Amino acid sequence: MRHPDPTPAHLAALQGQGKSSWALLRRLVGAYLKPHRNHFFAAMAFMAIAASMRGVFTHTLQYVVDGMIQRRGLIYMGWVCAFIIGSFWLRSATVYFHTILMNRIGQRIVATVQQEICEHLMRSDLAFFHANASGMLVSRVINDVAIMRQAVNECLLNSFRGGLELATLIGVMFYQDWRLSCIVFAVFPLSAFYVARIGKRIRKLAFNTQNATGDLSALLNQTFQGVRHVKAYGNEELEVNRVRTLTETIYKLSLKSIRVSALTGPVMEVLSSVAIAALVMYGYLQVEHGTNTPGDLVAFIASFVLAYDPMKRMGRVSAQFQAGLAAADRVFMLLDVKPEIVDSPSASALKITDYSVGLEDVAFSYPDGTLALEGLSLNVPHGKTVAIVGSSGAGKSTIINLIPRFYDVQSGRITVGGIDVRDVSMGSLRSKIALVSQETALFDDTIRANIGYGKLDASAEEIERAAEAASADGFIRCLPQGYDTRVGEFGIKLSGGQRQRIAIARAMLRNAPILLLDEATSALDNESERAVQAALKRLQEGRTTIVVAHRLSTIVDADVIVVLEKGKAVELGAHAELISRGGAYAKLYGMQGNCA
Ligand SMILES: Nc1ncnc2c1ncn2[C@@H]1O[C@H](COP(=O)(O)OP(=O)(O)OP(=O)(O)O)[C@@H](O)[C@H]1O
Ligand SMILES: [Mg+2]
Repeated sequence: MRHPDPTPAHLAALQGQGKSSWALLRRLVGAYLKPHRNHFFAAMAFMAIAASMRGVFTHTLQYVVDGMIQRRGLIYMGWVCAFIIGSFWLRSATVYFHTILMNRIGQRIVATVQQEICEHLMRSDLAFFHANASGMLVSRVINDVAIMRQAVNECLLNSFRGGLELATLIGVMFYQDWRLSCIVFAVFPLSAFYVARIGKRIRKLAFNTQNATGDLSALLNQTFQGVRHVKAYGNEELEVNRVRTLTETIYKLSLKSIRVSALTGPVMEVLSSVAIAALVMYGYLQVEHGTNTPGDLVAFIASFVLAYDPMKRMGRVSAQFQAGLAAADRVFMLLDVKPEIVDSPSASALKITDYSVGLEDVAFSYPDGTLALEGLSLNVPHGKTVAIVGSSGAGKSTIINLIPRFYDVQSGRITVGGIDVRDVSMGSLRSKIALVSQETALFDDTIRANIGYGKLDASAEEIERAAEAASADGFIRCLPQGYDTRVGEFGIKLSGGQRQRIAIARAMLRNAPILLLDEATSALDNESERAVQAALKRLQEGRTTIVVAHRLSTIVDADVIVVLEKGKAVELGAHAELISRGGAYAKLYGMQGNCA
């Protein structure tokens, strides 16, 4: 039910905080923004117009106030009003197009990143999935990317828009009165310093919050999957407490980061109030001395007040920007985990007619160091069946895992038709293998789709024939929607035996020359086992088969039986031979209530 503990190496790769802001930003822009540069520049052009209209408006105020004081007449004021309406209209239109374009870029980036992660994950090693809880990975694809989107959107929208607006308004202010401007902007370096200083803190907090959210997602995923066991053992309270602890952590981290980022507004406000007070005093003196008209001063103050808004917005964006960078950091970390099991550069497609399978002095440990196989040699001639038996944990499933290269051996080699599996392309190797594994193998889809998964272009008849051969057709037809019945997550709506028969039907449909069966019949009752056994026998004809079985009665016909103990073959031979030898196999066989 629960995933094994993640290995420290994989954890370190995915949880540590990585790159600098610059490196992250460069990668974000280079990889994701660059392809949209045309849209981006169009959006910027719209924004430039919108921003300049802000400056135009504040500058017009000078004409409004002075026009009133100097009583310029209705026609003059009419023109001023028309100009105001025109500038607002133009601004609204350009803001609209700018918003659409920028969001288009932002949403596109998100979809691209999500597709990229999924593609990458599909190519990742099985070991990677064993080391990282699936809920955590889901959280990266959904939560982290959503945070990235928000940051990208907000940053693209607000920082560029705010920056442009700010630049125009500052331009207008300097144009209006450079001395007043200098007074006002004396506080600027102070606030910039402040924003930069808290940025780092916010990013670290955001990173930790996102990690905790990933853990929560993983925990929920596991708890819901194992809900039957939670209830059976009455551990609801325990699970609720686990969730509570994590949600409290997230709550505290979020609050902390809000406490830090919410300070930006008030700090900026206090700084600005000082600037405004200085401005009012100095402006009053200027009017007194006649160097400026009240209109000049009002227009200047309006520019400043308008500039204040984008300034505040940019301060706020900084927090989101930091959270976005933290999310990007986590997403990139995921994308940067390189799969270890890949096609070698010289790998060619597997082109053989002899599908014998060989293990030559194979040693293998799992990434966490568990030694699973040691000096194991085994030959399965083309078309023959080798059965592997042995106690739990002996390494039977491990052998099955090594043949399709879910893992690579550490020493020795595994061959198909005499060729090392590492020398052929994985695609061509796996296309020659049909696997019925020990784990549940069904997806939340229809029965037809689940069987058809073995051969995507199979016709309806082929699927039904495969089901018949696996003694599954009968029960499928009794289901309310027959072959179109959805089986639920992991096939939860089917019985264990039914699930197994669907998995066998899928392998039948695959029609591959190498067959790997890991406890394929363990969940069947005696009657369906006999039926499936007969079907499997038909399936095994002419195919190279490795079958793992606990129930020894199912493998008495195997050409060779291997008894595995702690990763080593301790006995090898046909059934009758092993029984007469009276060794480990004979003992196991007797223990299961069989008569020799
Ligand atoms: N993904 C994994 N990561 C680390 N160790 C593993 C992993 N899978 C299996 N092992 C370990 O490798 C050893 C062999 O496991 P394997 O699954 O091959 O046993 P098995 O013979 O199939 O047992 P069973 O009959 O119970 O299915 C065991 O000690 C097990 O703990
Ligand atoms: Mg096993």
